[in-house]
Amino acid sequence: MISSRIERVEESATIKSSNRAKKLIAEGIDIINFTLGEPDFDTPANIIEATHRAMLAGETHYSAGAGIPELRAAIADKLRSENGIPTEAKNIMVTPGAKLAIFESMMTLIDDGDEVLLFDPAWVSYDACVKMAGGKTVWVETDPERNYRPKKDLSEYVTDKTKMIVINTPCNPTGAVYDKDQLQEIADLAIDHDFLVMSDEMYEKIIYDKKHYSIASFDNMHERTITVNGFSKAYAMTGWRLGYMDIPPHIFKSFEKIQSHTISNTTTFIQYGGVEALRGPQDELHKMQAAFKERRGVLVEGLRNLGLKCPMPDGAFYAYPDVSEFGSGEEITGRLLEEAHVAVSPGIAFGESGKNNIRISYAASVERIQEALVRMEKVFS
Ligand SMILES: Cc1ncc(COP(=O)(O)O)c(C=O)c1O
Repeated sequence: MISSRIERVEESATIKSSNRAKKLIAEGIDIINFTLGEPDFDTPANIIEATHRAMLAGETHYSAGAGIPELRAAIADKLRSENGIPTEAKNIMVTPGAKLAIFESMMTLIDDGDEVLLFDPAWVSYDACVKMAGGKTVWVETDPERNYRPKKDLSEYVTDKTKMIVINTPCNPTGAVYDKDQLQEIADLAIDHDFLVMSDEMYEKIIYDKKHYSIASFDNMHERTITVNGFSKAYAMTGWRLGYMDIPPHIFKSFEKIQSHTISNTTTFIQYGGVEALRGPQDELHKMQAAFKERRGVLVEGLRNLGLKCPMPDGAFYAYPDVSEFGSGEEITGRLLEEAHVAVSPGIAFGESGKNNIRISYAASVERIQEALVRMEKVFS
């Protein structure tokens, strides 16, 4: 009864562990929940007010499929001035969340049997979207000691079926931020072998000591890169569902087809909140960045004191320690929940390479992180 395209996709293991945690919380157990990929801050008031004003002003009707002109212009300005991407408002598609941008891209570009290169570990939804589109994921083994560069030469994974590579910097789950030369290698290969790049830059604003580079700003890359980004993490707007992509001009029209026949447009008044997020004051963002940096320090130091191997993440809000001295990532995820009442995600959810890891989202207060570290001693001793 169920289509093969959906049967191919497994339930997200991060959602599974988050649901287990939520169930225990509903039973009244005090679980410290580190499974979630969302900031624990509220959306800044200026964004809510701008959206409210838009609703009262009657912005409650359908809008243009690709987005309201004000938001497409604000996004294009941001991509040009902050990211150095040579784009224009006409290349911007506003979507209800970056997730849909990724899904639409795969559905528009991937044919049955096309291969998509994914670095292992990678965020769970890329593989699912590749499969739903009928494509095949080719996993590229990476080396944590070398900033998750490929273990073998990347060109060894390229075949005549390679259609796309997906990159994600800063990375969920590792927190790695790609260096410029690392991205240049990917760009050179994409040009030489004529394949596309999808660059998911969702965590761009949550970055600590490194600089963020957008591959679409590199020479000759704008025409073969779909840059995906959104408002969920930078502006604590996960529930709003607001994202976007910058699409090479020669394929933009095909993306319009899928958007117009499915969602018509992203909720009109929500888009006005997006304009305010980009054009308005950025102080709340800066406060959030400082809080994440403090939490990162407390958590990583605490995990290292517990005897775990834990690289210092350069971006995003996840720590990705190796727990192999104590058990597999899945075993430890189960024990942390049962014995310490701390919920995390097993690394295996992000690819084979994660079997010895767990992902800990530090979107929680310093006090909760400190308490979790004390509780974790039960398991890591
Ligand atoms: C790497 C990455 N990209 C995209 C998304 C989805 O973002 P959105 O809320 O805009 O759909 C997430 C959410 O967890 C993510 O981790």
